[in-house]
Amino acid sequence: MAPSAIEGRARRLRQEIERHNYFYYALDRPEISDAEYDRLFNELKELEEKHPQLRTPDSPTQRVGAKPLKEFIQVRHPLPLFSLANARNEDELRSWHSRVSKILADRGIDFAETALVTEPKIDGLAVSLVYEQGRLSRGATRGNGEVGEDVTMNLRTIRAIPLVVRLRPGERAPAVVEVRGEVYLPLAAFEKLNQERAAAGKPAFANPRNAAAGSVRQLDPRIAAGRPLNIWCYQIGYTEGLELSSHWQALEWMKKHGFRVNPYVERHKSFDEAVAACRAWEQRRPEFDYDIDGAVVKVNDYGMQDVLGVVGRDPRWAVAFKFAPSTAITMLLKIGINVGRTGALNPYAIMEPVEVGGVTVSQATLHNEDDIHRKDIRAGDWVVVERAGDVIPQVVGPVIQKRSGKEKSFRMPEKCPSCRSRTVRPEGEVVVRCPNKSCPSQIVESIKHFVSKGAMDIDGVGEKLVERLFRLGLIENMADLYYLDRDGLVGLELSSSVNSKGKLVPHRLQEKSVSKMMEALEKSKQRPFHRVLFALGIRHVGSINAQLLATHFGSMEALGVAVREDIASVEGIGPVIAEAVRDFFAEPHNQETIRRLRQAGLRLSQKPGERQERPLAGKSFVLTGKLASLTRAEAREKIEALGGKVSGAVGKSTDYVVAGASPGSKAKRAQELEKKIIGEKEFLRLLGE
Ligand code: IVH
Repeated sequence: MAPSAIEGRARRLRQEIERHNYFYYALDRPEISDAEYDRLFNELKELEEKHPQLRTPDSPTQRVGAKPLKEFIQVRHPLPLFSLANARNEDELRSWHSRVSKILADRGIDFAETALVTEPKIDGLAVSLVYEQGRLSRGATRGNGEVGEDVTMNLRTIRAIPLVVRLRPGERAPAVVEVRGEVYLPLAAFEKLNQERAAAGKPAFANPRNAAAGSVRQLDPRIAAGRPLNIWCYQIGYTEGLELSSHWQALEWMKKHGFRVNPYVERHKSFDEAVAACRAWEQRRPEFDYDIDGAVVKVNDYGMQDVLGVVGRDPRWAVAFKFAPSTAITMLLKIGINVGRTGALNPYAIMEPVEVGGVTVSQATLHNEDDIHRKDIRAGDWVVVERAGDVIPQVVGPVIQKRSGKEKSFRMPEKCPSCRSRTVRPEGEVVVRCPNKSCPSQIVESIKHFVSKGAMDIDGVGEKLVERLFRLGLIENMADLYYLDRDGLVGLELSSSVNSKGKLVPHRLQEKSVSKMMEALEKSKQRPFHRVLFALGIRHVGSINAQLLATHFGSMEALGVAVREDIASVEGIGPVIAEAVRDFFAEPHNQETIRRLRQAGLRLSQKPGERQERPLAGKSFVLTGKLASLTRAEAREKIEALGGKVSGAVGKSTDYVVAGASPGSKAKRAQELEKKIIGEKEFLRLLGE
């Protein structure tokens, strides 16, 4: 190739690759496969290796490669980066709005007619990116707002940050444009990073924000390059040769020119509409794969922004509507142990009550023994508790700095706290178990599972009642529920409380509740066979597996005598499940329970070809983003097994949009069409898992 042709090829490759970076990282809508991308990238790399003079600073191959620094250089921002005043609740947001309206009204501007823009407030690290003649010339941290640190080398490693402004043919870049945004570490990457750090004996980052800040402020850019940082751009600061008249215009300009702008930004005609949008994000916070600590409400028009001005460090034209924090710090009083229905000993934290994500929590899961040791959680520690949406509260980790030395390390009990049997931890498993099949805790938990919504769905027999009936010796297993004596139940003392006069008043089971309970039990006898099979709580037999087994074997009898190979050969069922099924039927007391359930009149068979209950029949799903517990293919399989359909695009007939981490444009479209968007938890619940 002639030198000019080689040069041309390198230039085209650079443009191509940056274009695909833009589609992949900024728009989340790749146009080519990863393999094709790698091919282009490698071709450019080879060309540049052969002809080093072709290696331009803005080549995509040059994102990483700078030498470690000794220290960061301080830089003055061309315009200060302000912070935001907070509104802690809707009232404060309303008073902000009234204040703004009044100031504008005094100047003869009717604010009622003015647009507001709302955006998710990203909990990361603010940065400023200066582009001169279209090229990224400097990236800096916010610092104190006036002076920050030059972290260009690290920011260049973030592929969502364009090295050159994307221009249309014939378009010229503005002489200077300063784009501002929030750098963050996606939640999944944060968790992975902390796991790696724990494995390497390094202290964990307390939250994704610290992890992002720590990564951007690395002197060695190779470390930053190894962390999948990302950015949402939310403002244009200093410009030369670019005239904009509103914030919305700035957002549009950034989107058009290759910057990653959050797809959830919205423009509103009324204040109430803006408030509703903020509220909606708060609800859907668990769906985002990044932390948002609130919503930002901004006056759109630059002219009005100027009139409103800045007080201290906070512009009056914007406000941060803070969400209830999803993490809090509290004292871990004790580590308790729950014995689950499969005998697993589940440690949990008993804590000083604390408000997290808008509710008071005093208990949180601690997963398992290894996890407690990995995070080094001790009784008496101050701990960070996290709660996102409907998710069970979690203990993130201890606040090491607050240790007094009196904290107690955790040891899994050697005896089951419920039945005192010696516990076992099978090799290769993280769970410690109570091996006693007649352990009271396991039995109570299995009865609770039996009556639960996804299983026999026995309304009127709640968890508390199950516990009480068991303690009183009125039931010893799930079958006993169907032999309860109505008269013996009426007037049964459930609990008691102290009244205002200091007297103990018992709460008794009323006639009406007993009737309701009896009706519900009667009704449950009509549940199809596969529901009964699931309700038995056989290990590894969830609702889907129960359906597969029910369809294949047709009856409890046939399944009960089937050999392991036959069970394992059912499509979707493997040897582990088959083994668990065999183990279950091998227990005489399980056989006895089944006999009594049959006697009570439950359905333990289904006619061949009997239409399976297909709870998702006629429902259309669209999947977007990454699910933590399933691949796309698995999710599709499960939806289809339950009678639902999966389609590739959101349309009029879509019933549910399942949004995993980093949902793409489909989620946005779903929002426009006002379709039901559900997160992973709710999706799993829908599948009955
Ligand atoms: S606007 C005056 N928009 O919040 C405008 N800031 O508490 C100030 N932040 O330092 C910035 N998401 O780091 C703006 N969509 C967003 C934001 C956002 C996160 C951060 C930013 C700022 C801090 C102020």
